[in-house]
Amino acid sequence: MSVSEPEQGFPPRTASYEADPEQVGRVLLLYSGGLDTSVMLKWIQDRYGAEVVCLTVNLGQPGEDYEVIREKALRLGALDCHVVDAREEFAREYLLPAIKANALYGGGYPLFTALGRPLIAKLAVQYARTSGCDTIAHGCTGKGNDQVRIEATVATLAPELRTIAPVRSWQMGREEEIAYAREHGIPVKGGTEIAPYSIDDNLWGRSSEGRWIEDLAHAPEDDVFQLVTRPEEAPERAQIVEVEFERGVPVALDGERLAPVQLIERAAEIAARHGVGIIDHIEDRIVGLKVRDIYEAPAAALLLAAHQELERLVCTIHQNQFKPQLDHQWAYLVYAGLWWEPLRSDLDAYMDSVNEQVTGTIGLKLYRGSVRVVTRSSPNAVYDASLASFSQSGGLFSQAASPGFIELFSLQSRMAWRLRNDS
Ligand code: ARG
Repeated sequence: MSVSEPEQGFPPRTASYEADPEQVGRVLLLYSGGLDTSVMLKWIQDRYGAEVVCLTVNLGQPGEDYEVIREKALRLGALDCHVVDAREEFAREYLLPAIKANALYGGGYPLFTALGRPLIAKLAVQYARTSGCDTIAHGCTGKGNDQVRIEATVATLAPELRTIAPVRSWQMGREEEIAYAREHGIPVKGGTEIAPYSIDDNLWGRSSEGRWIEDLAHAPEDDVFQLVTRPEEAPERAQIVEVEFERGVPVALDGERLAPVQLIERAAEIAARHGVGIIDHIEDRIVGLKVRDIYEAPAAALLLAAHQELERLVCTIHQNQFKPQLDHQWAYLVYAGLWWEPLRSDLDAYMDSVNEQVTGTIGLKLYRGSVRVVTRSSPNAVYDASLASFSQSGGLFSQAASPGFIELFSLQSRMAWRLRNDS
């Protein structure tokens, strides 16, 4: 059968990595325990007559009970449900490189979801292989970036595996999904009248989409903030936090050495208490849509501000002019789901090289929603107080050389000005 011929009740397939419904035998389902993936768990068994193995990945999303999720999966007919704690790998292999690249997409989004998806999909490949699955299923819709990140990863790392994305094809609305859930004994949490926000979270931040967020003229309602204290309710006393870095990696907070996961959790806690890390973001998705997201990313707000400042201090003017362009390219690749693209590792080599010098301590003042650098120190700072000072004439810096410098430095600009203006 050709790839584009529609099968009985299934939409036609467009891509080579999409599963042929006839060939789906055992599916590795990326399971969160929420409504969509629980309905999927039943629906895949029903529609494909396939077996389902679930995988739930812990990337530090707060408030999850993984035992409850596992039992729910097994009750809904999963052969097995693997729960993987990937926080350590996420922090070391994904968040630390993001810090070295000062990673922000579209000027504000610290990429927590975009960084998590390639790791989740890589684990899906690994568990699909060890559990004898032929297909990977995920709960992404057809309108978002996450489908791109997951499917690009699977197709890159495991050309022998196929994917299905039931939410993209089943054409059930929320009402129908709830009806399906009730019919199949799938518990539906809370009130069903108003759809909840669509949430995604991990160690690095939390996003909310949907409801009034889609109305660009609607200012944020208080109930959307579940991680960061609203600035108007934050403590009246400011707090100063010192972040210490070694070769671009944050290693201590206020003098206490912490491993990456603990350090990021602690940074999140402190910044969240002071209302720091709220981002109301207009974003260009990779699939063309322009959308609004509300982000709460306290750890990223604190650590990126500190890293960026320290990097600026130890780098030369030329590095400081150049690196933001590569930072920008890094963030775009990761946002776009191209984590496995060689350009990303090329860029990482550059980030690592620059970050060799990024050692030192930055003090930040947190106060009711704002974070501001107040102190800096580094053995590698390209800074000499006596040279920069107004109060001393300074040995190496010859002020007498300045007029000659200005004459040559401005030469072409002066010539061009004259040509264009003296007529
Ligand atoms: N806009 C962000 C991104 O594309 C957040 C997406 C959140 N994903 C979700 N499934 N709710 O990375």
